[in-house]
Amino acid sequence: MKKITIVGPGRVGESAAQIIAKSELCHELVLLGLEDEETRGIALDVQESAPLFDFDTHVTGSADPAAMSGSDLVIFTAGLPRKPGMSRDELASANLSVLRTVIDSILRYAPNAILLLVTNPVDILTYYAWKWTGWPRERILGLSGVLDSARMASFIAQETGFSVHDINTLVIGGHGDAMVPLIRYACINGIPIDQFLDENTIAKLVEHTRKGGAEILALKKTSSAYDSPAASIAIMVDSIARNRQRILPCVAILEGEYGENDIAMGVPVVLAKNGVSRVIELPLRQEELQALAVSAEAVRKNIK
Ligand code: LAC
Repeated sequence: MKKITIVGPGRVGESAAQIIAKSELCHELVLLGLEDEETRGIALDVQESAPLFDFDTHVTGSADPAAMSGSDLVIFTAGLPRKPGMSRDELASANLSVLRTVIDSILRYAPNAILLLVTNPVDILTYYAWKWTGWPRERILGLSGVLDSARMASFIAQETGFSVHDINTLVIGGHGDAMVPLIRYACINGIPIDQFLDENTIAKLVEHTRKGGAEILALKKTSSAYDSPAASIAIMVDSIARNRQRILPCVAILEGEYGENDIAMGVPVVLAKNGVSRVIELPLRQEELQALAVSAEAVRKNIK
């Protein structure tokens, strides 16, 4: 990719910038913040790691929205983070108003970009980004399933002692307590996890995955997770920038898939150079579909 802009150089944005630059996923990486000098300082810090990590990505910082001009991809990480005890949904009105302002700049300066939403509540922000831009759903997506699936894989690795290399997990639905970790699709090199773990342990794993973000927040107290969200962003950007056609669970706009319409939530999609090139509809069982419908209902309530 030629140019990527990260809006909101907070902890998630800065950490994502470091990985994207280090992986040379674009020639030009712009950090867009509220404070010009601070944002330039953050960008300079990342840029000065170039000789150490050996990358040629050019990193700059600015508070001028025009700095995003011509971006191929805009990553939105701006807004308020959660405080301990807060749900992701409680951030909706504050973060939607930040998004509204930024969407106007994106429409003006980067009208052909792909937009990746990270800020919470991510399903809601992804939905409104789609509404407010009027863009096709291919160019709007959000982060959730890659992160939630990584958490689930980490917990399976801890529980079994097996390498994360071989662990495959798939979490779909909204990025909230009703998310749907698909047990049937969790496997270790193709071997279903119930070969190694009993029902009770699997149920605990599922609950742990659902509460994974809140657990970190409760422990850190002053900040949500940022290393694993940033790594998740980089995985998604890599599939888009290198046109890998990876199947990854992402927040996407649904048009009839899984019986859902006019909603954004986590489903497996194919990520390629134009963004979401395809939404994969899995043949879910009745109880899985029911869990997904519960999660969709929670998202829909918040959209309203
Ligand atoms: C989490 C926040 C970023 O899941 O939603 O850690």
